[in-house]
Amino acid sequence: MSDPLPYVLVLYYSRYGATRAMAERLTAGVESCRGIEARLRTVPPVSPTCQAVDPEIPAEGAVYASLDDLRHCSGLALGSPTRFGNMAAPLKHFIDSTIELWIGGALVDKPATAFTSTSSLHGGQETTLISMLLPLLHHGMVYAGLPYSEVALMETTGGGTPYGASHLAGKRSDRPLDDHERDLTYAQGRRLAHLALALHRSQETLA
Ligand SMILES: Cc1cc2nc3c(=O)[nH]c(=O)nc-3n(C[C@H](O)[C@H](O)[C@H](O)COP(=O)(O)O)c2cc1C
Repeated sequence: MSDPLPYVLVLYYSRYGATRAMAERLTAGVESCRGIEARLRTVPPVSPTCQAVDPEIPAEGAVYASLDDLRHCSGLALGSPTRFGNMAAPLKHFIDSTIELWIGGALVDKPATAFTSTSSLHGGQETTLISMLLPLLHHGMVYAGLPYSEVALMETTGGGTPYGASHLAGKRSDRPLDDHERDLTYAQGRRLAHLALALHRSQETLA
């Protein structure tokens, strides 16, 4: 039997669907790269009641991520809506459960990126992306943003930053991804997939 293909974990939280739409678009970018797969996962909401238990399978969207999904990925795309200029608590809660991966260095030298959605244009896209970058660096991951060779980065009047893809969802969260946002989110997934595959292969050669 042949070895399973390496995969990029696309891990997101989304309450109203905007970040989920980005995650699905980024997944299409990953899947445009041959030799590597995408694994789309989400995290459950957190509750003020400690130890509250959600059904194991969410009613809609992707399946909940396990630590093993993260441990064995060859690349990671992390997506969160902006919450007061920061990543959302459910994603932070999941990241805070990854201490055993940090101790074992499971994510060291793997490429990672981040994406976000906001209701207002200057409401904290860059700070949210950077808030997601911090734990990735602690895990020893290699952060890949979006290069200006992506022409949409200069032309966008909505989302899109060199720190990662972003989306302006509007006050009612009903503005769909525009063409530039779609292009950039797709390009980010495709770039991450290429980097993940190249690093995966180089580590196989060294092993
Ligand atoms: C508690 C809370 C805090 C928020 N903080 C911000 C913010 O700082 N800036 C902003 O532009 N939007 C903010 N929003 C709006 C969301 O980031 C925005 O609606 C986002 O697109 C939702 O993504 P989703 O559809 O994936 O849930 C906030 C929303 C909530 C519920």
